[in-house]
Amino acid sequence: MENPTGSILREGGGKEEEIYYPPSDVVENANLSRYMKQKGFSTWEELYRWSCENFEEYWEEMARRLEWYRPWDQVLDDSGKPFYRWFTGARCNIVHNAIDRHLKTWRRNKQALIWEGEDGSHRTFSYLAVNREVSKLANVLKGMGVARGDIVSIYMPRVPELIFSMLACAKIGAVHSVIYGGFSVEAVRERVGDAQSKVLLTADGGFMRGKIVELKRIADEAMDHSPSIQTCIVLRRTGHAVNMQAGRDYWLHDLLTLPIASTKCETVPLDSETPAFILYTSGSTGKPKGVVHVHGGYMVGISATFHMTFDLKEEDRYWCAADPGWITGHSYIVYAPFIEGATSFIYEGAPNYPYPNRWWQCVERYGINILYTAPTAIRGLMRFGNAWPSRYDLSTLRLLGSVGEPINPEAWRWFHKVIGGGRCPLMDTWWQTETGMFMIAPNPTTPLKPGSGTYPVLGVVADVVDDRHAAKPVDEDGFLVIRKPWPAMMRTLLNDPERYVQQYWRGEQSEVYFTGDSARKDAQGYFWVIGRVDDVIKVSGYRLGTAEIESALVSHRAVAEAAAIGLPHELKGSAIHCYVILSQGIEPSEGLEDELKAHVASEMGPIAKPERIQFVSSLPKTRSGKILRRVLKAKALGQELGDLSTLEEQLSLQQLSMLNR
Ligand code: WTA
Repeated sequence: MENPTGSILREGGGKEEEIYYPPSDVVENANLSRYMKQKGFSTWEELYRWSCENFEEYWEEMARRLEWYRPWDQVLDDSGKPFYRWFTGARCNIVHNAIDRHLKTWRRNKQALIWEGEDGSHRTFSYLAVNREVSKLANVLKGMGVARGDIVSIYMPRVPELIFSMLACAKIGAVHSVIYGGFSVEAVRERVGDAQSKVLLTADGGFMRGKIVELKRIADEAMDHSPSIQTCIVLRRTGHAVNMQAGRDYWLHDLLTLPIASTKCETVPLDSETPAFILYTSGSTGKPKGVVHVHGGYMVGISATFHMTFDLKEEDRYWCAADPGWITGHSYIVYAPFIEGATSFIYEGAPNYPYPNRWWQCVERYGINILYTAPTAIRGLMRFGNAWPSRYDLSTLRLLGSVGEPINPEAWRWFHKVIGGGRCPLMDTWWQTETGMFMIAPNPTTPLKPGSGTYPVLGVVADVVDDRHAAKPVDEDGFLVIRKPWPAMMRTLLNDPERYVQQYWRGEQSEVYFTGDSARKDAQGYFWVIGRVDDVIKVSGYRLGTAEIESALVSHRAVAEAAAIGLPHELKGSAIHCYVILSQGIEPSEGLEDELKAHVASEMGPIAKPERIQFVSSLPKTRSGKILRRVLKAKALGQELGDLSTLEEQLSLQQLSMLNR
């Protein structure tokens, strides 16, 4: 039976299922269909099976789509597993593929980047212009003493210079560490300190919802406690007055007028395993983890997945609405689209500023063909009703994408029907900072089920397992794992290789990568990701760690102990709820709750602001003192406490009754 949005309700396992089949012209023209024909397979299943059984051959083929200064001796070196190495012996530079190779073709004059500021201003850069900006910036960095292997921290608003800074670092073999522009003092200090950056690139401020975000002021506070920083390069964006410390702070526009800032700069040939960037992400314990990605394998993994899943065509206009400061921006705003020669659009500000028509106006104005965003943004815009998008011509859209958290079917259907007109396949892409590239994601030929990322991508073997790595039966929840290495995989954690081994691989010699997510697989092999099994909270798709929030709380003099958990929230997916034990002599009050919320926001950033803080007299803990956050969560949700089988966990249950709720 066909319903109005083009879906087919099909009998599956005794119950009716909602399946959306792709339009035949999309299937016919899909990059994946062409590849399938070229390989001589007649179904995706056969192609997928081949790509898994011969995954090194598959990835080698994908590597041949790119340019290398020197070819590899070996595709995969697993001798030091889980420290896998890809394309060993090869020399390359991701920037050569993202910019230089296009300059030899007509693409030099193709639009690479179209930017719209929140204030309505526009800037457009061809590949030639991007090369010029990146080269000048790279020369400035060299002039300021940045050498190969140095880690440069970047803390900027969503402006083209953020992208150029990243590319400038990679071009000269320096390593960038981008700190999301929504983070605040403590988060910046911690990331700069762990990376021991000598140079910080920032801006006087950024615009968000018409207000100025005081990036330089926040950076100043962070730099007061970051002894490694010797130089701070400041982009003028807002023009408001900021403090410039002589001998440390330099305006970028001044540096760009110096003779060192020539438009010619060599892209440095590097060993394929050379780190390209560090990106900090939150984990279950302690401080944020510096995930390390390299030039060679990373560029192969992201460009292949972008080609197959987002099906880019030469004349497309592609818009990924994420922030370049997160992995989605690194892989699928900056590197993969540039490598594939795309025309990318980015927008600086909030989706509903000044009105909830802003995004749809952008789609119409720039003729966007592919729109990639997050469930939280979709839910937020859905809330304003259909009248806003219906005023705009959205007929250029061909493909939609979602990332960051499980998408609820209601939001899926709205995005598909109201925005995509029922004709655009919706690519629900599951992946992580650590995986670097899409791992479970459809391609435009895949029949879709709302809420499922469908199948693993070509060359990737995913599974749902129990504690002992044994596959779980159909429809049963388990740990989501990856069973074979992939080229864009993280290589290690900066300064903490041991944690890399233990946390992701559960020990040396292991060949199973633990994602930290739970999932189930249905009878047709579709994967349904449920959520995190560790202490990571996804707030509006932003990844935050409970430990970071807790340490922000205890840095306030009124707080003795704190615990943070994520609870379901209609718009944000999850919201942060905190339990706080006050220091002796401090009385709970509403005013104090507000003060603590504001304190977390100013330490960590507005995204980490708790939804609610409750004052309690004790927290449930194991005998070794670890806070049992899942007990707090189960209690808050009114759920059974289930398998709290160890004695120490039972003991802690008694403490629960002491919670003042
Ligand atoms: C979650 C973002 C369900 C998941 C690219 C994962 C998703 C974490 C999806 C990584 C999706 C991401 N469906 N869950 N399509 N995409 N997640 O490192 O829990 O910020 O482990 O990378 O986001 O978040 P990260």
